[in-house]
Amino acid sequence: MTQTPLKPLYGPVAEDMILVEDVLESIKQVELVPLKRMLDHALEARGKRLRPALVLLTGNLGDYNLNKLVPLGAAIELLHTASLVHDDVVDGALSRRGRPTTNAVFDNAITVLLGDYMFANAAEMVTRTGSLSVTRLFALALMKMTSGELDQDAAAFDMGKDVQQYLWRIGGKTAALIANATEGGAVLGGLDEKTVEALRTYGYSLGMAFQIVDDILDYTGDEELMGKPVGSDLLEGTVTLPGLLFLERYPRNNPIKRFFTARRERHLRLQEAIGAILASDVIEASMDIARDYIRRANAALDVLPASDAKDCLADLGEYVLNRRS
Ligand code: IPE
Ligand code: IPE
Ligand code: MG
Ligand code: MG
Repeated sequence: MTQTPLKPLYGPVAEDMILVEDVLESIKQVELVPLKRMLDHALEARGKRLRPALVLLTGNLGDYNLNKLVPLGAAIELLHTASLVHDDVVDGALSRRGRPTTNAVFDNAITVLLGDYMFANAAEMVTRTGSLSVTRLFALALMKMTSGELDQDAAAFDMGKDVQQYLWRIGGKTAALIANATEGGAVLGGLDEKTVEALRTYGYSLGMAFQIVDDILDYTGDEELMGKPVGSDLLEGTVTLPGLLFLERYPRNNPIKRFFTARRERHLRLQEAIGAILASDVIEASMDIARDYIRRANAALDVLPASDAKDCLADLGEYVLNRRS
């Protein structure tokens, strides 16, 4: 769940990821004791570090300037972690990265403030790249993420939503930041416009597949490996791709509808809905859509000359499809 071996996953940049760790570690050095306590908690467990690795890998395709790439990688990872701190408040989630969430240990109100602090710290960090365009992309990504999360909340317990809207939503809440990582790394690497655009497309498509797989794992995954609750999306009223496909295929007398409208025995109705989804073909159909995004991601890499970083980016597509954590 947390300490993924980085070497096979992040190839040529794996060793340099320690520099990102150092910057993230430095965030905790604040004098205010209550803030330090919360930062220590929120930053204690490491995730997979996918986003900073993507910044370094795309930067590695060009002028590999770690003085700029490391601050961007750390800023994006911090923004990601802050968004998870807020997401866990919104979802009422109690575990993350194999540990209790910040909102489980401290109260919701101050956890929101901690997230604010982390967002601001991330913004300060991205200015260290000295690039106005990268700073702007970073701000736009956060705006899209927030819009995606708000749309998800507005759609809770609503069965009238379609796949198109789901794709728009995950494009905001997840793919926008992963695209920001690959586009930002490419811009800082000084790559030409066509290549920057290709890497943005790569990151966006990888991000779409990443969230679709996350949503599948919420049905099929192992809580221990994931380090966070599974089986909780539907409980919260969030109908992700498997559920949407299921509603589309079996519109009448659907167990999701029965769960959403149940007044009694809600737990039983939830188990029935999850069981029906797992027994159907919609998990595989959702995987097909994720595979399609990975094909698009890999096709975008065609413009790049051969390199270790390119191979690693291509392998990450496979990793995203097969991940269990
Ligand atoms: C979790 O992202 C949130 C989603 C976009 C699904 P990650 O799975 O990358 O989380 P960490 O950083 O590895 O914990
Ligand atoms: C991703 O959505 C959260 C963000 C992109 C902020 P989820 O709600 O599916 O993420 P997890 O499952 O809690 O990690
Ligand atoms: Mg969540
Ligand atoms: Mg999830």
